[in-house]
Amino acid sequence: MLRKNIPYRFVLTVILVASFYLQPFAQGWDVPADKKAKNSYIKFDKATAKEGETVYTKNCQSCHGDIGKNNSLKSLKPIPPDLSSTKSQQLTDGELFYILNTGRMIMPSFNNVLSETDRWKVISYIRSFNNSYIQVLSKTDPTKSNLVKINLSYDSINSIVRVQVTASEKAGVVALKNSEIILFANRYFGKLQIDKTLRTDNDGIALFRFTKNLPGDKSGNVELIVKVNDDKYGEILSQSKLKIGVPTDKPSLTEKRAIWNVLLKAPIWLIITYTSGVLIFGVFLLFLLYGLFRIKKSGNN
Ligand code: HEC
Repeated sequence: MLRKNIPYRFVLTVILVASFYLQPFAQGWDVPADKKAKNSYIKFDKATAKEGETVYTKNCQSCHGDIGKNNSLKSLKPIPPDLSSTKSQQLTDGELFYILNTGRMIMPSFNNVLSETDRWKVISYIRSFNNSYIQVLSKTDPTKSNLVKINLSYDSINSIVRVQVTASEKAGVVALKNSEIILFANRYFGKLQIDKTLRTDNDGIALFRFTKNLPGDKSGNVELIVKVNDDKYGEILSQSKLKIGVPTDKPSLTEKRAIWNVLLKAPIWLIITYTSGVLIFGVFLLFLLYGLFRIKKSGNN
């Protein structure tokens, strides 16, 4: 019986040990082709490199060290590369941007920590250590993103959320074609993606399918977040409510007499127990004081 167990355990141990040691060697970043080709809309020059240096010192230096000095934190596994290394500089701007966005294991994700502008500026700083680097600027102009309009509507029969993206340009309102669209439902503890990441068609439209049993508020409203990524206008976020969910009468975390309540609505049993506890203790204290007083009095006699 015991013998039979040995090979199994042995194989398991080998796999565990191997995966532990091979993990740091899991090199290469698997960046999707369209992300790899992404370029910065910020010009990489002395000024943006200088600003990027400030971002770097605050957010990256603790692990990666001073660029070009090969003094990154060697106790980490994998060791954070010196970003002036050939290996790092061979990555495209899009790849660097993707790595900053997603992170991997110890390398944190900066998607929600740094603005898109700051993420590009830090890349500008990284590139300032590479003399043979020539930038390809993106045609995106995010300062014009306020011209973009995102329209949401709901087809309740087919359970489809229709997103249409347009921009008011000089020539009139135009549909944004082939923009990347991600749709999320806002939840208590984070965002829930609906359907896959889609691209708009020639009319600037993307259709998202979802399951009918999405819980909404009392009247079935669900807070939706649309994230648009357009080559010309950059990244645009919009938030709106749509009646696509199942009406759910769940009291909010602060409404009820819950024990974790931060408002003045503690559960009644807690109020009674607490108050009677305080009262009983008070009476007991008075009784003690009275006893002491009596002892003192009899001593005086
Ligand atoms: C907590 C430590 C830590 C911090 C902070 C950190 N990194 Fe990293 N970084 C790492 C590690 C570890 C790796 C290697 C990850 C791997 O290969 O799986 C890495 C990898 C990278 C890579 C890939 C380089 C290559 O040649 O493969 C880039 C680019 C990078 N980091 C940039 C940054 C930038 C820019 C910042 C600051 C905005 C930053 N990192 C902050 C730990 C860190």
